[in-house]
Amino acid sequence: MKVEVSTKYLPHITPLVVVVSGNNPPNPSTYIYFGQLNDNPPIVGVGMKEKRHTYSLIKELKDFTVNIVNEKILKEADRAGFVSGKKYNKGELINFSYESSTVINSPYIKKAPISYEVKLLGELKLFDHNLLYGEVVKIHAEDSYVIDGKVDLLKADIIVSSYHSTDYYKVEKRVGNWGISLKEK
Ligand SMILES: Cc1cc2nc3c(=O)[nH]c(=O)nc-3n(C[C@H](O)[C@H](O)[C@H](O)COP(=O)(O)O)c2cc1C
Repeated sequence: MKVEVSTKYLPHITPLVVVVSGNNPPNPSTYIYFGQLNDNPPIVGVGMKEKRHTYSLIKELKDFTVNIVNEKILKEADRAGFVSGKKYNKGELINFSYESSTVINSPYIKKAPISYEVKLLGELKLFDHNLLYGEVVKIHAEDSYVIDGKVDLLKADIIVSSYHSTDYYKVEKRVGNWGISLKEK
């Protein structure tokens, strides 16, 4: 039997967007509405409210980094989702160290298991959020999480969450791979 639940219960990977603000410190903020939208070129999109400081920065500076959250950086990632760069200097409040990106201006978070450098391509106005989408021009992954050139999602300790329940979960078990249905006799 199925019960109807709010669409807000959709599970998501929780990423983090960082934008460099001119000569000011980086402004990290947390986004649950995020996904890869195209393969070649790789395009990702973030669902963002226009009132976010990050929204204005991305529109002005035209790039951002997406930093996937794992347990190690969860507390700081959470904090970045509750304070706005409009009011606070988040560089002082949120304890991340950054690395310079290789292609874009915005820096990425050193301790994030995976970080994408993204160049803004466009925007789609939705309803209460806008989709800001861009091309991934570089990906950095922590080498201890990479096996045969692929990021091992178990090792990386990826966090998933949902907007409504507001709980954070860890991905802890591999249960198969694409094509398991084809092997069934
Ligand atoms: C776990 C989590 C997920 C969030 N997801 C989104 C989201 O998908 N879209 C959005 O516009 N805001 C989201 N927020 C809220 C922003 O992160 C928050 O308003 C932040 O303070 C914005 O910072 P800024 O004003 O410096 O950009 C989320 C917050 C948390 C804690």
